[in-house]
Amino acid sequence: MQKIMAVIGAQWGDEGKGKFVDYLYPGCSMAARFNGGNNAGHSVETIENGRQRVHLLPANAYRDGAVCILGNGMVIDLDVLKEEIQRVMEVNRSVEVIVDRRAHIITNEHKAKDQEDEEKRSIKIGTTSRGIGPAYADKMYRKGMRVCDIDPQFFWSIRCAVADTTMILNNAISGGDSVLFAGAHGTMLDIDHGAYPYVTSSNCIAAAVGTGAGVDPRRITDAIGVMKAYSTRVGGGPFPSEMDEEAASAIRKKGKEYGTTTGRPRRIGWLDIPALRRSALINQFDYFAISMLDVLSVVREVRICISYKYSSQSGIGEDFPMNDSEYSSLTGEYITMKGWSEESVLGKTNFCELPEEAKLYIRTIEFMTKVPVKIISTGPRRDQTIDRR
Ligand code: GTP
Ligand code: IMP
Ligand code: MG
Repeated sequence: MQKIMAVIGAQWGDEGKGKFVDYLYPGCSMAARFNGGNNAGHSVETIENGRQRVHLLPANAYRDGAVCILGNGMVIDLDVLKEEIQRVMEVNRSVEVIVDRRAHIITNEHKAKDQEDEEKRSIKIGTTSRGIGPAYADKMYRKGMRVCDIDPQFFWSIRCAVADTTMILNNAISGGDSVLFAGAHGTMLDIDHGAYPYVTSSNCIAAAVGTGAGVDPRRITDAIGVMKAYSTRVGGGPFPSEMDEEAASAIRKKGKEYGTTTGRPRRIGWLDIPALRRSALINQFDYFAISMLDVLSVVREVRICISYKYSSQSGIGEDFPMNDSEYSSLTGEYITMKGWSEESVLGKTNFCELPEEAKLYIRTIEFMTKVPVKIISTGPRRDQTIDRR
């Protein structure tokens, strides 16, 4: 059956989209990125190739015969593109890369401005300093440079095709092919739906497939929300369920929670149900894919933030804080559950094999978000996955 999958970050990015894009790709004729640039970082781990990373290409790149599309909604650093194609081809010669003619270019000026602006800010966003914001600003200001403005020889020399990828994608879909859209970052970092200004400069949600790839979002058959069994965030801004440093450092160490792009230690939080509900609302997820269930085993008791309470309002709130003053008046309401051991979940491929505590955790997420959890990652590798589809 034809599947048009959108793999979307349901939290603050780094939910493990890389692993799931790689896992879900077989059966598709192509995968496409539609937002952001090399501020993203996705890791894929296999027995043959160990841990591999991509920043611009969708994470199907290590699959045999992979077709990787960089859609019109992206911003591209040409040096990074060159280096990344070279690096991926060393491992997978069969990869084919196609960039859209209308994607925008990140220049050295954009990168310098990104850094300068961050230094000048009194309250830091903590950008990846890859020039993303300034490149999108120039695009919106209608003075950006695009792929079609660059000498085609350059793309030829780095083994990257240039094309109208909107036509390629729509033709593939009309012809009955399955296609995967690989989201970057996460819904809570979306320029419109995240906690502005602590966001990235693109739309990261499923509907952005419409603008960023030229494909009607109604074509999507599977809107897949990727979430971690806990929460992480890189950079500044509201993070309501952030945990104390003792628990955070144990999870950070076990889950290797350092930025793929910048190497910064990630902030760690408990699962945040109001954020996930908000995310499910905006993206209308058909199901969740959850990662890092084995990593969460380092804590004896697991907490879940089930609602927010604002001291500035009466009662309990569901709304995500919109600004710093709302955030500072917020406290999370939590439930606590018994944890599980690493051995009891690591590498499991069948839901029935999971310990009762982990099953209850998954069922609690399903109950509270009203979204089924259909794929469960129980380790870094492709094969360490439970698939309940
Ligand atoms: P996205 O940005 O959403 O693509 O996530 P990411 O790829 O940035 O995450 P990161 O770079 O932190 O890499 C995640 C690493 O954790 C990769 O090596 C994955 O193979 C690995 N990983 C993914 N799922 C699991 C899991 O369930 N358990 C463990 N132990 N590792 C996982
Ligand atoms: P920028 O996208 O580099 O402008 O950074 C803006 C904010 O988004 C910063 O807080 C970054 O840390 C965050 N961010 C951007 N991309 C990612 C990502 O892929 N994972 C996690 N955080 C990200
Ligand atoms: Mg990442």
